Amino acid sequence: MAIVNEYRPTEVFFGEGAIKKAGEVGRRFGFRALVVTGRKSAKESGALEKLMRSLSEHGIQGVLYDGVTPNPTDVQVNEGAKLAVDQKVDFIVGLGGGSALDVAKAISIVSSNEGTAWDYVRYPEGSRLTPFLNRPVITIPTTAGTGSEVNRYSVISNPRTKEKMVISHSLNYPRVALVDPELTYTMDERLTALTGFDALVHALESLTNRRENFIAEEYAIRALSLISKWLPVAVEEPQNKEARKWMSYASMLAGIAIDHLGVALIHAMEHPVSGHYPSVAHAEGLSALAPYVTAFNYGSNPEKYALFARLMGEEEKPSRAVDALVKLIERFSLPKTLKELGVEKEKLGRLAEDVYICARNAFSVNPAPAGMDEVLELYERAYEGRL
Ligand SMILES: [Fe+2]
Repeated sequence: MAIVNEYRPTEVFFGEGAIKKAGEVGRRFGFRALVVTGRKSAKESGALEKLMRSLSEHGIQGVLYDGVTPNPTDVQVNEGAKLAVDQKVDFIVGLGGGSALDVAKAISIVSSNEGTAWDYVRYPEGSRLTPFLNRPVITIPTTAGTGSEVNRYSVISNPRTKEKMVISHSLNYPRVALVDPELTYTMDERLTALTGFDALVHALESLTNRRENFIAEEYAIRALSLISKWLPVAVEEPQNKEARKWMSYASMLAGIAIDHLGVALIHAMEHPVSGHYPSVAHAEGLSALAPYVTAFNYGSNPEKYALFARLMGEEEKPSRAVDALVKLIERFSLPKTLKELGVEKEKLGRLAEDVYICARNAFSVNPAPAGMDEVLELYERAYEGRL
């Protein structure tokens, strides 16, 4: 049996009202915080006000960086890092969906080291970064999907090259995550479905890919059974607190699962889509790809795909994994093809090249062996809706 490991450098506070701990926790790190968030939703929902109040109650001054957009860019990370340095902040708080958390984490690395954000995509582990000077990060998710609150990844787009790449480094872990399901109550039906689908694909890909770590797989399995039960409830009854709690929890577990096991071709093929078409949400791209990639994959790890199908309430057969995804996509009216997302047919070759350039490690961890030809074929299927 392979030797497996589990280590969490991120302390988690989980439960309704957890955001109110921000000030108390922040005092461990200092008196000035950079608060990283998006342009609108954290303000409109009242989450930003709650955070600022908690910080000021504990004598912490919050400096706001609210320039984060969906599919965030290296430019935003560099802007935030400059502000962190100029304003001499002691720590960083990320408040929002995956984008705000990813940017907050990356700002910590860039503001504490030389260079700019793009220098740190695919940066190797080693001693050249400054572990003791890195500004601590507190993550506060307002959606249930990303898992970024507990893992080492930041997904960053480069608007000049259209590349979308991942900073994956042990110094990119948040120090503390405040997971407060109450902050997700204001998500509408569509955002609930989309973010929940992202968490589902994290669990699916970590469970089925070629890496092995049975501890992390336990997290993925638990996440899937919770998502299967509670995502439909959360979508259909946005005020159901039980559903919101379990979706926040499932998303966090799936975030830990990918921290160990990574993802596979669904994610690797999605990143070029939203990299070239920034108006496409990450989970929309996942939805338009997942059934086709799963149909290609299930025969290469039949046991795990049968397990996935069972956890999703289907018959325990590998091929049922595809049915489970298709049903969920129909039920929540999520995108079914790349064509309906506005992807252009003549761009598919370029997208396949970008998988090779930006995420070719997915070729070796994907359940079924794949290369450029298979990826292009899968893009064509997902474009045409040909299962
Ligand atoms: Fe994802």
